[in-house]
Amino acid sequence: MSDIVNNTFITFTEGPLIGKSLHSLWLRERLSDKKHLDQINLQRLYEPSLLDENIYIEKFLHKGNNLMIIFSDGETGNFSIKDILDEVYQHDIFPKKKQWKENILKKSYHNYKSLKTSLELTIDMLRNFHLFGFVILTHMSKKKGAVIKFAETLGPVRSTNFGKYFDVISKPNPNDLAYTALGLSPHTDNPYRKPVPGIQLLHCIVNDAEGGNSTLVDGLKITNYLKKNEKHYFDILTSVEILFHFADKDVVLQNWGRLIELDSKNNFKQIRFSGRLDYVPALNPEQLTLFYQARKRLYELCTSKDFMINFRLESGMLVMFDNHRLLHGRTKYDPSSGNRHLQGCYIEHDVVEGKLRRLLIK
Ligand code: OGA
Ligand code: ZN
Repeated sequence: MSDIVNNTFITFTEGPLIGKSLHSLWLRERLSDKKHLDQINLQRLYEPSLLDENIYIEKFLHKGNNLMIIFSDGETGNFSIKDILDEVYQHDIFPKKKQWKENILKKSYHNYKSLKTSLELTIDMLRNFHLFGFVILTHMSKKKGAVIKFAETLGPVRSTNFGKYFDVISKPNPNDLAYTALGLSPHTDNPYRKPVPGIQLLHCIVNDAEGGNSTLVDGLKITNYLKKNEKHYFDILTSVEILFHFADKDVVLQNWGRLIELDSKNNFKQIRFSGRLDYVPALNPEQLTLFYQARKRLYELCTSKDFMINFRLESGMLVMFDNHRLLHGRTKYDPSSGNRHLQGCYIEHDVVEGKLRRLLIK
């Protein structure tokens, strides 16, 4: 049976698009020849809103992977069915993110020296980052500045009022508790910013002190757990908006957000957790009682062995993690027993995703 064409759409009656109807204007604005699309940057050379909205398909020929259409305005399009399929069914070259399993730490180490000489290994590292929300690089330089050097191989870094990078080192009168020797319970960084920094990198210059191990928690796994097992907590954590606040002598930064934010399809989008910086609104007492129970439970889960991993960043190692998905922290250390100095910076998700897409599509 041949495909059905009427004034405004074509319906496929065979092949991989069987049953699918495509609007003639949708097809018309996908013409990819040099009259319609810049062949270098692949951007449209005309304003599609100015196309005749009553445009229709005058002639078409569908054979295997090829679809040829002559439109009522006289233009001809040659389409690949495979390209249309990918777009219609929103096939993504990125696999679905996976929650952590027991052996997560083992497969997260990547040798930076090898990465530098292999595109395949770089893709593998970025793919792991996408899937699990973090990677640990070994065999890096131990020098100051290595974090920015590495970050800029991926793309531009996100500067903040802490600067382009920050030194995580114990110092007097710090404007953040990270710059002390205190332990830091699992938290996400900077929930008070707009937008919250997407990715954090921490590079270890020296870590000779007693203590000062690194911790990470999978916010996606915790969300799945709460949704399945403790729905009353999941519901309140995904609905109450909290104020996050930072102040020093230069700025006062504030942003509102849910501890667990879902996307428009009710899937996990982002976790925010920083007991140092959160201001819960004065809800009615019953709601507050439940909210506080839920926040406490979230904290318990984040600090439990079932969800938190603990490892040591040694000099010359770097951890890169998704600050929208993971919580991170450190155990306290004793500054009189040795030095500990990390350098950190932020980079955004579009940068890292964009790099991986470029490498995959090449
Ligand atoms: C930070 C932080 C962890 C560490 O600087 O935001 O959480 O290992 N540091 O010192
Ligand atoms: Zn932090």
